[in-house]
Amino acid sequence: MARKYYDQLYKLLLIGDSAVGKTSLLLRFSDDLFTPVLGATIGIDFKIKTIEMGGQKVKLQIWDTAGQERFETITTSYYRGSDGILLVYDITNPTSFQNVEKWLRYIQQYADDQVEKVLVGNKCDLVDMRNVSKERGQEIAQHFGIRFIETSAKANLNVDKAFFDMAEILLKRSAQRKAAETVKIKKGRRKNTKSKCC
Ligand code: GTP
Repeated sequence: MARKYYDQLYKLLLIGDSAVGKTSLLLRFSDDLFTPVLGATIGIDFKIKTIEMGGQKVKLQIWDTAGQERFETITTSYYRGSDGILLVYDITNPTSFQNVEKWLRYIQQYADDQVEKVLVGNKCDLVDMRNVSKERGQEIAQHFGIRFIETSAKANLNVDKAFFDMAEILLKRSAQRKAAETVKIKKGRRKNTKSKCC
């Protein structure tokens, strides 16, 4: 029988406009690589990375979706069943920021209600080309009640943090659910014991 070599498995999804750096963030996180010239993702791709957190082995299955509109039918079919979604825009590209609301609508439409979300402003190494202030990113994230982080796949800024923070939240949620289930089971047992008596 195959050995299970992880304690928790989470499915994560990277979404956002084309060329905002989704594949680059994934490559940086999984293989510590950055490639200046990358072809656009065709459809969908994934990578696996197992991390240690709180004494547990956490396996992250990370799906990288194509940002081009022509792939939306395929990519949105992967939203269901995701535990966490990283919605990425490019801080030098205002259109990618304007489209954040469109991506949030897709999440609402296609993902599970309890999916964890984080808004990621990527390419923060391009200081002179910035077109979306950090404050605007923070504001929209706050407005929609989601977390926010700025990253650079190129300069390796906050990339691990974006994924680790997501994993930490999911782990906490799993622990809370487990605790709630244990309480339920205990209550159920007590009930059964009572009914057998007298
Ligand atoms: P699609 O596959 O079309 O959805 O694009 P994507 O969002 O996966 O973007 P991709 O990772 O292919 O990156 C697009 C371009 O931006 C590439 O030329 C990358 O090298 C560049 N890029 C990605 N992240 C960064 C970054 O943090 N800083 C800078 N300066 N360039 C970046």
